[in-house]
Amino acid sequence: MTDDHARTGDAGDIGGTSDISYISSGEANGRRAVSRKTLLKAALVAVPLPALLGSGVAIARDHRPSDAPLPPTPFCDDGDDPTPPQIEGPYFKPASPERASLLEPGTQGTRLTVGGYVFGTGCRPVAHALLDFWQADDAGAYDNLGFRLRGHQYTDARGAFSLTTVVPGLYPGRTRHLHVKVQAPGGPLLTTQLYFPGEPRNNTDPLFNAALLMNVRQAGPAKQATFDFVVNTGGPRT
Ligand SMILES: [Fe+2]
Repeated sequence: MTDDHARTGDAGDIGGTSDISYISSGEANGRRAVSRKTLLKAALVAVPLPALLGSGVAIARDHRPSDAPLPPTPFCDDGDDPTPPQIEGPYFKPASPERASLLEPGTQGTRLTVGGYVFGTGCRPVAHALLDFWQADDAGAYDNLGFRLRGHQYTDARGAFSLTTVVPGLYPGRTRHLHVKVQAPGGPLLTTQLYFPGEPRNNTDPLFNAALLMNVRQAGPAKQATFDFVVNTGGPRT
């Protein structure tokens, strides 16, 4: 199956709307002017290691693969830039099920966890931000009839998310990637893609953007990845 994002140009633009309604428009309670680095440092100190390993969040954050170029992933410092958008591609489906794990009985492939945070451009974590993931299966095929390997979730009160899935397979014309839509409550919808370091096709896929590289590390037979999104929140800088 060819998902020729770069050339077909037939990606639908959903016009900044989401098919998923928010229950609450509230943002993080008790938010403080805390930098991402400070937050993560505090989280790493406060959370026992087994909990981090279980959640797949943050543990690989500072361990970049040796073969990966240092990506200009936005840091939540002064002048922080939002996570860059990418085209939706032809295989997005609205109304995905709400679930943090896309694994189902019989799901084939290398297990992958992706953990991270959603921040506003003012570096504060965004609670109850929507993340809607979709991806190809281990063989490089999208499920366009059902919702296999599709699902949405919301960040928790700390602005954290954790996705459990499998490493997407390759298909013609593209390097390995995950699709995701991210939206802070009341904010504009960000459509983008996440990439894997060390993939040969990163050098030839015209859509590849190093700013969207995840940190990925091997964890036994599985892979653990981290990525932090920075989104506009629609209100004052947060
Ligand atoms: Fe795709």
